[in-house]
Amino acid sequence: MQLNNGEFHFAGGISALDLCETYGCPLYVYDYDTIERQYNRLTSAFDVKNLRINYACKALTNINILKLMNSLGAGLDTVSIQEVRLGLLAGYKPQDIIYTPNCVSLEEITEAVKLGVRINIDNISILEQFGSLYPHYPVCIRINPHIMAGGNSKISVGHIDSKFGISFHQMPHVLRVVEATGLKVEGLHMHTGSEILDSEVFLIGAEILFKQAHHLPDLDYLDFGSGFKVSYKNDGIETDIEDLGQQISKRFNFFCKEYGRELTLMFEPGKYLVSEAGYFFSKVNVVKQTTSTVFAGIDSGLNHLIRPMMYDSYHSIINISKTDGRKRIYTVVGYICETDTFGVNRQMHEIQEGDILCIKNAGAYCFTMASNYNSRFRPPEVLIYKGQHHLIRKRETMDDLLYNQVEVELFQPALQSGENMLDRMNGQKETIKQENRNKETE
Ligand SMILES: Cc1ncc(COP(=O)(O)O)c(C=O)c1O
Repeated sequence: MQLNNGEFHFAGGISALDLCETYGCPLYVYDYDTIERQYNRLTSAFDVKNLRINYACKALTNINILKLMNSLGAGLDTVSIQEVRLGLLAGYKPQDIIYTPNCVSLEEITEAVKLGVRINIDNISILEQFGSLYPHYPVCIRINPHIMAGGNSKISVGHIDSKFGISFHQMPHVLRVVEATGLKVEGLHMHTGSEILDSEVFLIGAEILFKQAHHLPDLDYLDFGSGFKVSYKNDGIETDIEDLGQQISKRFNFFCKEYGRELTLMFEPGKYLVSEAGYFFSKVNVVKQTTSTVFAGIDSGLNHLIRPMMYDSYHSIINISKTDGRKRIYTVVGYICETDTFGVNRQMHEIQEGDILCIKNAGAYCFTMASNYNSRFRPPEVLIYKGQHHLIRKRETMDDLLYNQVEVELFQPALQSGENMLDRMNGQKETIKQENRNKETE
């Protein structure tokens, strides 16, 4: 999104304010060009014979985004059987989907076997059971490298106290299980955490994976997970992907020579591909001056974008209704009934009620973490593709809030026979409309 002649536009001259007018606020918008640029940048950074980028779709699972990634050539990294099914619906071949669950049941893993996707196992108990049930189904093993890294403790997942992966110290036992069951281990995987700036961390992890890989003779791929840091403050502070690509490629190519075979180098980025492509637009309902602070209260909350409240993530916020003039300091808050802060002490062009604020880096872990808390509707999603905008998810309605609720006949007023809650709600709407019409004609 660029500022031209005092107004923010997307490619093709699409005005951000016009989008807000057309679809209403709050609104998520994703820019295809940014996703494509990030994908190309990542694939160009590595110099290996076989590279595979599996999009970590937990970041943003709209089916159109999954299809878009498929069209770019990415595979899919999934963590639940539902994500697997979404991937298949989006047109991915089963072998292009890797399923990396944590603490799921053997039943769910069995479903994944039936769907034919690649399976990544992260604990010895399941590995044993899996091996005795499906000795001929190739698996990947997720190891825990015991590295503490990542932007926040809640997204550091490769350390010794983390629930993820099998400790690399337990490899001797893993090898016993593999030998006893006859399993073919086709891949070795690790994921250290998210928002890792320092290339060194990836390289240390890689050495651990290379070392363990030598114990497994049938490998087809090594999966280094993800965790690339993107710039949240428009300050350019991000993982130096080109430098990392060069260093990992050199080391990987050397490893393949030692191993005696060209393996595939895999990564599974989420944020790197979609974070920057996403924009969240919200209207200012109230400007409220208290004794100590000026709050801008927007028509959204942690129910729509929880990252700042969940793990203190920083999102840059701009006033797109005012692009020049005086800047003042605001704390941007939402309408939820708990502390609900998007950003503290942010300098923005002077805000008036009705202005539209844009929260940036809203592509990854934003809509997918949204909820109906406080019985609010989840916002629509729009994709900008080749100069056109497309609605890819509708705003929810009362029907969505009630869709799966079952009203039991224990309390008054009871439903009439044959009536359901939606019928009643629609009846109420009609009555209100009629009353308004009557008032108008009075
Ligand atoms: C196993 C695994 N792979 C990949 C990712 C994607 O990480 P990121 O969004 O930092 O690229 C995650 C994030 O939680 C993950 O848990």
